[in-house]
Amino acid sequence: MSRPLEVLEVDLEEPGLGEVLVEVRAAGLCHSDLSAIDGTRPWPLPIVLGHEAAGIVRAVGPGVRDLVEGDHVVFSFVPMCGSCRYCVAGRPYLCERGVQANREGRLITGARRFYLEGKPLNHHLGVAAFSQFTVAARESLVPIPKDVPLETAALFGCAIATGVGAVLNTARVEEGASVAIFGLGGVGLAAVMGAVLAGAYPIAAVDLLPAKVELARSMGATHGVVVGDGDVVEAIREITGGGADYAFETAGSVEAMSLAYKATRRGGVTVTVGLPHPERVLSLPAVSLTAEERILKGSYMGSTNPRRDLPRFLTLHRIGRLPAERLVTGTLSLEAINEGFDRLARGEVVRQIVIP
Ligand SMILES: NC(=O)c1ccc[n+]([C@@H]2O[C@H](COP(=O)([O-])OP(=O)(O)OC[C@H]3O[C@@H](n4cnc5c(N)ncnc54)[C@H](O)[C@@H]3O)[C@@H](O)[C@H]2O)c1
Ligand SMILES: [Zn+2]
Ligand SMILES: [Zn+2]
Repeated sequence: MSRPLEVLEVDLEEPGLGEVLVEVRAAGLCHSDLSAIDGTRPWPLPIVLGHEAAGIVRAVGPGVRDLVEGDHVVFSFVPMCGSCRYCVAGRPYLCERGVQANREGRLITGARRFYLEGKPLNHHLGVAAFSQFTVAARESLVPIPKDVPLETAALFGCAIATGVGAVLNTARVEEGASVAIFGLGGVGLAAVMGAVLAGAYPIAAVDLLPAKVELARSMGATHGVVVGDGDVVEAIREITGGGADYAFETAGSVEAMSLAYKATRRGGVTVTVGLPHPERVLSLPAVSLTAEERILKGSYMGSTNPRRDLPRFLTLHRIGRLPAERLVTGTLSLEAINEGFDRLARGEVVRQIVIP
């Protein structure tokens, strides 16, 4: 069921211990927000949505020693505690305390800072960016250089981290390996950019919409396949000479996951990035995992450590090798946000940036 967003005047408390007040200057519309609206990804309601954003620090709470007013920051949608078993193992995107806080709609500090008529509102993924101001935990913020336009920087919090990270971190695609990418929204097109960075060849881009396939070609995909134009799996096998070494599903669709798996070669790696409804089930020919030594991997937040990876991805952007700004279809006001989500649902746009 679609529950369009309401734009309301709410109260925001001062940042508490370990928290930061951020003026949000740019917030992207990601399909994961749309999934919160249409019920594909259930979250505790009422909630302030928005998890792909950048802004300027306006005040720091007690205990925050490494950020000052005026610093530019990108939000990370998994706060990293730094001390749980996942954080110490170098997998902060699975942070125990961060994931638990996100599920509860709280900051990792335990707090909720937005209030409507005296009742607390939940924070989406510790970010809650569809607002002029938000309070986030220090663990949800990555400082960035001030010369990166904030409208572009916002994308590094989700689309770029997720798409580029899936290729470089989760899959570790080697130069010359063949890649197929299923689903060409903000995340899938970022994965195309990641495959270009990795030196993959061929890079086959797949979508239901011919316009998305064309866009991917203009961003470095060497081949394009439109779902519905003949046998997709056969087409990928032909392009890659028997199946892709690495296939990525970035559509949020179980059907696309299944296609990606079938289009992966024997011994290859299939990476799922999309987030279908929790009750959806993916079924596979069981023996293929064993007899064909297949690897099926999930990728959350591109397996990134934001404090390590965002600076290096921003460097690649600065030297022209990661053209993140090409993902931006346009900007809009907070008041126009529901129309923006309608356009995203129809597949007409890539990333739209709310300037609150
Ligand atoms: N794993 C993560 O950390 C993470 C992070 C961000 C987003 N996501 C998820 O990734 C998915 C994509 O997000 P987005 O913002 O890029 O979405 P988007 O809506 O911008 O793009 C999705 C694209 O997939 C295409 N598509 C849909 N069904 C398809 C199919 N069966 N075969 C081929 N293409 C198909 C659509 O036409 C569209 O172009 C969503 O499920 C989102 O929730 C995951
Ligand atoms: Zn997202
Ligand atoms: Zn942790």
